[in-house]
Amino acid sequence: MSISQLARSIKASPTLKLNEAAAKLRERGEPVIHLGGGEPKSKAPLDAVLNCAAQLNTGEIRYAPADGLPALKKAVIRYTEDYYHHRVHPENVIVSSGAKQAIMMLLYSILEPHDEVVFPAPYWVSYPEMVRLAGGVPVAVTPEDGTFHPTMKEIDEVVGSQTRAIILNSPNNPSGAMYSREFIAEIVRYCEKKDLWLVMDDLYNRLVFDGQQAPNPYEFADDLGPASKLVVVQGVSKMYAMTGFRIGWALANPEVIEAMTNIQGHQTSGPVTVSQWAAIGALSGVQTSIVTLRLTLENARNVMVDRLLTIPGLHIHKPQGTFYCFPDFSAYERNSLKLAEFLLDKVRVVAVPGKEFGMEGHLRLSYCGAMKEIMEGVERIKWALDPNSPNEIFIGDRRLVRDWA
Ligand SMILES: Cc1ncc(COP(=O)(O)O)c(C=O)c1O
Repeated sequence: MSISQLARSIKASPTLKLNEAAAKLRERGEPVIHLGGGEPKSKAPLDAVLNCAAQLNTGEIRYAPADGLPALKKAVIRYTEDYYHHRVHPENVIVSSGAKQAIMMLLYSILEPHDEVVFPAPYWVSYPEMVRLAGGVPVAVTPEDGTFHPTMKEIDEVVGSQTRAIILNSPNNPSGAMYSREFIAEIVRYCEKKDLWLVMDDLYNRLVFDGQQAPNPYEFADDLGPASKLVVVQGVSKMYAMTGFRIGWALANPEVIEAMTNIQGHQTSGPVTVSQWAAIGALSGVQTSIVTLRLTLENARNVMVDRLLTIPGLHIHKPQGTFYCFPDFSAYERNSLKLAEFLLDKVRVVAVPGKEFGMEGHLRLSYCGAMKEIMEGVERIKWALDPNSPNEIFIGDRRLVRDWA
């Protein structure tokens, strides 16, 4: 069998691999705690479920336009007015099968072979692979000061004649860090000046804590006309806990939306129609579920961070949003894959290695699961790592004895 060079250059999703390993252990009755998750556990909003069910009940589920149902585009336009205070038109909107597909369609539409796409590290695991799939070259910028906030100087140092786009994800998966208003203002103007695409992956921007709000990129743009290269990506996956519906969208200039629509039309013919009706329900219905989710996650963040801080030597920046925390474990082990395997092997806790996000020494721990699991998961990690911990603990009725230094 011969597999293409392109396919061979694409890595499997690390989270999927971990899920498989954890599922196998669970099948054997092992008490696995999963802190590697990427989706809230709450239910989809009732308005989403009812709207979707009503469409299903008609029994007539047909193709929709490749760029999305007009009613969903209308709901997206309203959402953009409400939360970005920015007016867009149907020709500025494409609905895709998740934010992931929206980003992929965009990269296919704007990249020439070997064009570079810049993004700060730590980054969402899919960016490098998606850029490669579209024929581009991923370029990660790692902040030198050990924070998760790159400076404009660091970005400028890697931007060159081959650079076509910058992707920002804020608040960020995996760090939970939110870039400052000043930084967003500067980068919007920088991209306009340099004629670069700026992709704002805003998927988590309603899940922000401590009374803060994610900066609005449109506020800083001088040119929002048909030549604007500012693209905002959004979706229902995280804010409405609707990951399985697979609905996201991009807002951009009409020319690129048309190009994305042409590609999407040939690739999938557009997202699943009943899912689009669910998204219309979510966007047009009662919005309290987002507030409830945000408050639940903020509380879970506090519990996780407080407990992590009791582990000596751990370096931790308090996440400002999302449902991820990205502590630095290098005081214990710099090889994050080795550390993740050690924790799964010894104390049955799943964490995602920082290496996958472009930052060694860290682990991504999610606080989107049950509170009991968050508390016990961190307790087990502490026990496994802290040499001052007692020599044994109980996991359920199983006694674990430390047999490592
Ligand atoms: C930063 C970021 N962007 C995009 C996505 C993709 O979201 P969707 O489920 O809408 O495809 C994810 C999902 O984990 C993400 O973390």
